[in-house]
Amino acid sequence: MQIRILGSAAGGGLPQWNCGCSNCVAVRNGSPHHQPRTQSSVAVSADSAAWFLLNASADVRQQIGSFRALGPPVDEMRGTSIAGCILTDAEIDHTSGLLQLREGNRFGVFSTAQVHGWLRRDFPIEPIVATFAERPWYEIEPDVSYDLPLPSGAPSNLRVRPFETGRDVPRYVTSASPDEAAGAVVGLRIEDRNTGGVLVYAPGVQALSERLIEAAGDARCMLIDGTFWSDDEPARSGFSTSTARQMGHLPVSGEGGTLGWLSRLPISHRVYVHINNTNPMLDESGLEWKQVSEAGVRVGADGDTLEI
Ligand code: MLT
Ligand code: MN
Ligand code: ZN
Repeated sequence: MQIRILGSAAGGGLPQWNCGCSNCVAVRNGSPHHQPRTQSSVAVSADSAAWFLLNASADVRQQIGSFRALGPPVDEMRGTSIAGCILTDAEIDHTSGLLQLREGNRFGVFSTAQVHGWLRRDFPIEPIVATFAERPWYEIEPDVSYDLPLPSGAPSNLRVRPFETGRDVPRYVTSASPDEAAGAVVGLRIEDRNTGGVLVYAPGVQALSERLIEAAGDARCMLIDGTFWSDDEPARSGFSTSTARQMGHLPVSGEGGTLGWLSRLPISHRVYVHINNTNPMLDESGLEWKQVSEAGVRVGADGDTLEI
């Protein structure tokens, strides 16, 4: 399986349009220790020809432009190698790219029923895009495995199994009151049926749950939520009074953070994605970046490419 990190930042990207945090300022000033980053999305392929997007970020147009394999095939008036899009949640940063991809070419969208419902009613991407392009929507439920079909119906040789990683409801959802919902946020275990390589992609992790630990069991690559360094980062940065955990993101550092767990996992590729622009580990000259690297974990960057 080919894995390409299209965008490694959380919502807003790096730099974020209205942000004056030290990372955003450093990128604007051309710091050699900071890389600009687009919003959260990954592409995977079993044959290097047909690609599945894992989330469709608001920056998808730029991401396709910087990865030739996702561009239109030569000698075709209109075409794409995008064979489908699998969503991990219904957040704006992970879904609004579907609006950019409305110009024709049939491909399927895969999400839980919960996410599907929100994207039909509360942020009605599905009905809007359906007036422009064929986007058959397939509901995939946690803990069930699905062989991903190509748009033609032929097998892609990729098999996906979603598993629940959080129940955080998107802020725009006003139609329902519960502040938690089953199937709201999932990780994806994706297996290449030819090579046996397993990718675990989990950009929204609320807890080190049994499901996550089990999914990590036979993974060769783990792309995991690196939104915040510490629980108080949103408050300390001054953009929210909520903690990282309250926002649905287990922090990287500290007691019960993801880094301690990841550092002990016998997985060759352990990579943080969905990194918020305020996260100090984005400064490659800083102690946090060093701490992550010394734990055998990578701070993911746009354009990172892996094969498993
Ligand atoms: C998240 O990852 O928690 C959301 O994308 C936050 C947001 O709405 O930007
Ligand atoms: Mn997000
Ligand atoms: Zn910033």
